[in-house]
Amino acid sequence: MLRSHTCGDLRKKDVTKKVTLAGWVHSRRDHGGVIFIDLRDRYGLTQIVFDSSHKKNILKSADSLRREFVIQVSGVVKRRKQGMINKKIDSGEIEVFADELKILNKSLTPPIEISERADSGEDVRLKYRYVDIRREELKNNFILRHNVIKDIRDFFDSQGFLEIETPILGKSTPEGARDFIVPSRIKKGEFYALPQSPQIFKQLLMLSGFDKYVQIVKCFRDEDLRADRQPEFTQVDVEMSFVEEKDIINIMEQLMKYVLKKQNIKVKTPFKRLTHKEAMEKYGSDKPDLRFGMELMDVSNIVKKSKFTVFKSVLDKGGRVKCIKANNDFSRKNIDKLIEFVKIYDAKGLAWMKYDGKLESSIVKFFPEKVLKEIAKRTRVKKGDYLFFVADRKHHIVDVALGQLRLKLAKELKLIKKEWNFLWVVDFPLVEYDELEKRHISIHHPFTKPKEKHIKFLDKDPGKVLSDAYDLVLNGVELGGGSIRIHKSELQSKIFKTLGISKKEADSKFGFLLEAFKYGTPPHGGIALGLDRFIMLLSESSSLRDVIAFPKTKSGDDLMMNSPSEVSQEQLKDVGINVKKK
Ligand code: AMO
Ligand code: AMP
Repeated sequence: MLRSHTCGDLRKKDVTKKVTLAGWVHSRRDHGGVIFIDLRDRYGLTQIVFDSSHKKNILKSADSLRREFVIQVSGVVKRRKQGMINKKIDSGEIEVFADELKILNKSLTPPIEISERADSGEDVRLKYRYVDIRREELKNNFILRHNVIKDIRDFFDSQGFLEIETPILGKSTPEGARDFIVPSRIKKGEFYALPQSPQIFKQLLMLSGFDKYVQIVKCFRDEDLRADRQPEFTQVDVEMSFVEEKDIINIMEQLMKYVLKKQNIKVKTPFKRLTHKEAMEKYGSDKPDLRFGMELMDVSNIVKKSKFTVFKSVLDKGGRVKCIKANNDFSRKNIDKLIEFVKIYDAKGLAWMKYDGKLESSIVKFFPEKVLKEIAKRTRVKKGDYLFFVADRKHHIVDVALGQLRLKLAKELKLIKKEWNFLWVVDFPLVEYDELEKRHISIHHPFTKPKEKHIKFLDKDPGKVLSDAYDLVLNGVELGGGSIRIHKSELQSKIFKTLGISKKEADSKFGFLLEAFKYGTPPHGGIALGLDRFIMLLSESSSLRDVIAFPKTKSGDDLMMNSPSEVSQEQLKDVGINVKKK
């Protein structure tokens, strides 16, 4: 080894020891006659002193040191003088007086500040990612990630799960995003697809008798990226045989409890539950953040007695009027911004009233006194409260617009408590109607089991069918989703039909699965957790990019490797692809 200790090792007990350290020059301070260096490695910082009164000529060699040079230093550990102790670092009571210095490698001036919270633009940080992740904050995220992965594996191992790997070169799987595809050289014109998840494989493993499966696995989805979406991400993928919904929920609650305990976080089980319908009605979201209240309130029945045409015309067409309540002194300008905000979610406007002993606003003239009193009673307004109303013919628009406004106001008014608020959203509808595709599409995926008692609605009214599907939500982020699966080929074929997938298409895409189901399939179900999202929440990061060593930008680029990029004509020829230049 080129070192006897790491930069995080040395303490008071090591005083007088002769040591050799190696690492990066984190900072350099020249005090005229003495040069101080903070030497950094993964484990910490140690102060090195280059002092000619300790070792002749040592100053000269230290003169050329610059930030991020990689050096090896040998010297003696000494106790720091009183008043010089640095409580911020673990080795702060000692320093190493250098006897020898070897520059192992020089560095150009780093493009990013490493010593403090970098305010460099993200593009620069991603281009020089290997420098960026030298930063303490990011480094700690990867250490956390490692520890959590280990704890997850330990937990599942203790419960008798087997980790089994599944292929990366596969066939299109229907998770709802676009596939990344890989051309075959041997079979020109044919393609593999990278897995959006190991969904089909894990179901097949149940068929093979591996009744408890887990895999920490990369998944690939070509979809529009956001702060909590990357094109390649990691799932903790779980499947079990002979189980019901409550069994999967139970094992995941135990997992969360185990992993969080290791991080000194206590959580209570069972977690709260809301049906999908309740979540949408009360919070306007299928992943509600329950760290604060501000529930949506339906006032349709009350405001229909008003003369406010905006509300009345909507209600006459079977629509809805709902409101939320927030206590704050909103300026007109402020409210105008909120009106613009809800329009992003297709609301046509945002009406408001302020309570100051009675409800006031430019629209109250359209509301009889009695109706205003009823609104005040129903919404339990207090002095200083504002009510914000959205009316729309489409219930979904009312819920989503107010749900998003709820989140925005809670952030702005700092109403979000610091806690670990887990929630199960259950009883998802099986399908939703896609206006663009003019057919029903799965809300989870086509292998999700409809509720037994709803199977009878499949032919006539599929929108009414609820499923045995559940999502795990943490602080308003969808952490995981899963379901009990269909395990009979007849029902699976019927669902394909409901989804407008022709028999021919079903045979070509999933024929092998329908056939497999005929060879003794146990009832089974599972779930997948987004590992990156979990680490993002645990590390209190605001983006997945902070917990992935080499992430992609919003537009899917790797700025460091400059990928995606063109490939050579030979490579294209090999796979029989002719690229038309833009
Ligand atoms: P689902 O599609 O809900 O379910 O995915 C499970 C979890 O994976 C995470 N996730 C993502 N994380 C980062 N970037 C992305 N692009 C991304 N997409 C999804 C989310 C999500 O909750 N096969 C099913 C699971 C099952 O039914 O067992 C599936 O993949 O946290
Ligand atoms: P208007 O009659 O369009 O000028 O709207 C009167 C008030 O009602 C304005 O404050 C609008 O923002 C609000 N408003 C308009 N449409 C809606 C709607 N669909 N839901 C809630 N408020 C609305």
